[in-house]
Amino acid sequence: MNATGQIPDSSNSARPALDNDRIRGDFPILHQSINGCPLAYLDNAASSQRPRQVLDAIQHYYCHDHSNVHRGVHTLSHRATEAYEGAREKVRKFINARSVTEIVFTRGTTDAINLVADSLGRDFSADDEILISHMEHHSNIVPWQLLCEKTGAQLKVAPINRQGELLLDDCLALMSDKTRLVAIAHVSNALGTINPVERLIPAARDRNIPVLVDGAQAIPHQAIDVQALDCDFYAFSSHKMCGPTGIGVLYGKQQWLERMPPYQGGGDMILSVSFEQTLYNELPYRFEAGTPNIAGAIGLGAAIDYLDTIGMASIAAYEADLLTYATSAISELPGIRLIGTAAEKAGVISFNVDDIHPHDLGTVLDHQGVAIRTGHHCAMPVMEFFGIPGTARASLAFYNNRQDIDQLVEGLKLAIRMFQ
Ligand code: ALA
Repeated sequence: MNATGQIPDSSNSARPALDNDRIRGDFPILHQSINGCPLAYLDNAASSQRPRQVLDAIQHYYCHDHSNVHRGVHTLSHRATEAYEGAREKVRKFINARSVTEIVFTRGTTDAINLVADSLGRDFSADDEILISHMEHHSNIVPWQLLCEKTGAQLKVAPINRQGELLLDDCLALMSDKTRLVAIAHVSNALGTINPVERLIPAARDRNIPVLVDGAQAIPHQAIDVQALDCDFYAFSSHKMCGPTGIGVLYGKQQWLERMPPYQGGGDMILSVSFEQTLYNELPYRFEAGTPNIAGAIGLGAAIDYLDTIGMASIAAYEADLLTYATSAISELPGIRLIGTAAEKAGVISFNVDDIHPHDLGTVLDHQGVAIRTGHHCAMPVMEFFGIPGTARASLAFYNNRQDIDQLVEGLKLAIRMFQ
């Protein structure tokens, strides 16, 4: 029985339209046994899986088109450049950026945030403040701490409530003439909370404060429109959205990127070099020193094509339905404490069961073929807020189904029986 008194229905009736069976067929990795059980992959917030279309695009590139980009006059270099820049255009369109000059390829979200901290933050001083929230991933805390150490700037932290929601009014009250940047997760990786960035960004804009949104956990789950959001920076990783690892994106408004100094020196980010003076390249290349992750960008482009064929609105509706089903089924188990019960949530369910250690839960579940993540999820301040060392976390993707959730619940029942 669930919270509304209904038995969870794992049949296919009255669900948001998305052909889950066909989609699962695109993901070779899902079709295997782990410890004699079918794999139920519920660790998507850590990294998603890749469909065959992405794997094929990468293989095709290496088999037919690989060379270095931008400076070559031969055919393969032209092809590689076209594919790499084509991927940039796909990213632009996917997030509705105004121009490809606003799309910087990085190694991932962490790299993108470090780029902004290092470049935009270079002229921060002891009079300045950076505002983050209490639910940030370490990647959106530590780069700012490093910057504070270097410049003397102060880090301010907006509080959250026991549901794991941002206290927006308190957050706005922390903005002042001293605030040089607000850096905030769109979706919390540890709690699943969707932050009200649509309300926070205009408030920051009124005070002339730029906003960086850490979109790592939002981009796989909902349509993102950076112009509608009006954020100044939006950072995300390819591997959370069915693309390869080692590639990500920093979207930055042209007006900011134009005035930011280069982050790293090397090839591709220069126009000319002499010992007297070096001239930097135009945007976005000024921030892409060295040979880029060409295959990664092409794989990311293929992932975007794939997500587009399903549609982000369909993905969001399907995952919302699966989240309701999973939350209801997990909540019914004895001794469960959900960590993160915000009104607005993406497909992340963090929980503890009595005093069973999350790692023990994770190990028992692995023996049942269920992959979840356990620990602090690189968000130790959130764990400290809830007075716990860590959680067990199941995180959803559109290729999951109710059978995956049922398998998780059965595995949890077994763990509860074993440890009690
Ligand atoms: N940040 C990733 C997670 O939440 C690794 O698991």
